Amino acid sequence: MLENPSRRSFLKATVTAPAVLAVPGMLAAEEETVILTARRQIVPLVGQGYPETEIWGYDGRVPGPIIRITRGGTVRVQVRNELDQPTTVHWHGLRIDNKMDGVPGLTQTAIAPGEDFAYRITPPDAGTFWYHSHVNSSEQIGRGLHGALIVDEIDPPRVDRDLVWILDDWLLNRDAQIVNSFDHPRDASHGGQIGNTVTVNGRILRDFAVRTNERLRLRLINAANGRIFRLKFVEHAPLIIALDGQPVPVHEPEDSSIVLAPAMRADLLLDCTGAPGQRFSIVDSAYRQPYELLQLVYQTREPVRSKPAIALPRLPSNDLHQPDLTQAVHLNVSFGGGMHGQLAGARYRGQWLDVRRLFQQGKMWAINGVVGESEGIVPLYTLRLGRTYVLHLTNKSAWPHPVHLHGHHFRLLSRNGDPVAYRPWLDTVLLEPRDKVDVAFVADNPGHWMFHCHIPEHMATGMATVFRVV
Ligand code: C2O
Ligand code: CU
Repeated sequence: MLENPSRRSFLKATVTAPAVLAVPGMLAAEEETVILTARRQIVPLVGQGYPETEIWGYDGRVPGPIIRITRGGTVRVQVRNELDQPTTVHWHGLRIDNKMDGVPGLTQTAIAPGEDFAYRITPPDAGTFWYHSHVNSSEQIGRGLHGALIVDEIDPPRVDRDLVWILDDWLLNRDAQIVNSFDHPRDASHGGQIGNTVTVNGRILRDFAVRTNERLRLRLINAANGRIFRLKFVEHAPLIIALDGQPVPVHEPEDSSIVLAPAMRADLLLDCTGAPGQRFSIVDSAYRQPYELLQLVYQTREPVRSKPAIALPRLPSNDLHQPDLTQAVHLNVSFGGGMHGQLAGARYRGQWLDVRRLFQQGKMWAINGVVGESEGIVPLYTLRLGRTYVLHLTNKSAWPHPVHLHGHHFRLLSRNGDPVAYRPWLDTVLLEPRDKVDVAFVADNPGHWMFHCHIPEHMATGMATVFRVV
């Protein structure tokens, strides 16, 4: 009954033409090479009578092209650096070979200006992922170096449209140009950079056309540096079908709000139950001033079908290794620092410094009392391949931190002592101020894996460490 036209047309296109030329925004295919060029470009970010904005984007676009492969496939991505500073690409959420993880000084040397690097990727999991720069991240991600990476299920659930919405925010001046205040100490010591302009797929979207009784799979990705989204679909009841790429039992979001901190993804099933001609807002109420992200605008055409679809699709599990909690090794990880924190001091380059001296050195954060450096981080813990670990994460600061582990997904067990429903598999978990969160995972991917706050201003000023899996 329901079709998945985007996927159909994509598959057809890859047979008849080189993937790169086939469908704009739909690159890639099994065993094919995709070229991704990081460069400057002028784009109509704000639109409506404003000047165009200079961004840094993959292939000069923001967000970058969607890289799309089917689970089990392999893609080779040739990254060209046409910026005037080094860069790398990290494949966020993909449990891939450590050598392809894109962390400078840890898994590769950064790609110098004018150079190339070939990433070969075989994602084990179907789901919604993304890619982004991992060098000078505050500025490089902040100026637009990110894009979606979609791994299709071999037999994807049937929907009318399968859509990616990359949410992002920008700090723009009156001429719609990006304000060059990346890594400002004020942002670094508070909640990271929060912009003044929110975009969906690199544009200010006011209206989004839908049809009555249409069923959408909406893949939301938060690519912003510091902004958290809390979205409510007025008069609609989106269902969550996956988080951070991994399927969850289909359920309604708590409070009917989708909360996405930086780097997080949610796959929603949205049944468009309005009548032709109606409009409904999607409202973001994460901060004091709620605003309308966009409006769903029902086309005045005949409904897609006479009644909304009822059957709930089930995404196939990606079969991750289940943590064995009876045999788990328990580790504590505490996150401290920032404005209004209680950090007395921390070790930085082998020396204990009080917090005033740390701030003078531009360092604001520590993990287990150690300030992480951007290169040459000493692993916080060495994990044994195949063992289960429970991480007891404590946010001792006054700011939220979306904490991300590379190369693995973990199950979210509990928050402040309360068990979490469905124990979702995540690669990024939001720690609200003072939160205590327990996660569990099997260390099943050998290598050096970063574990850091995904607010780049926090990462750059100390909130980063490494787990070594051997
Ligand atoms: Cu998406 Cu190390 O990050
Ligand atoms: Cu943080």
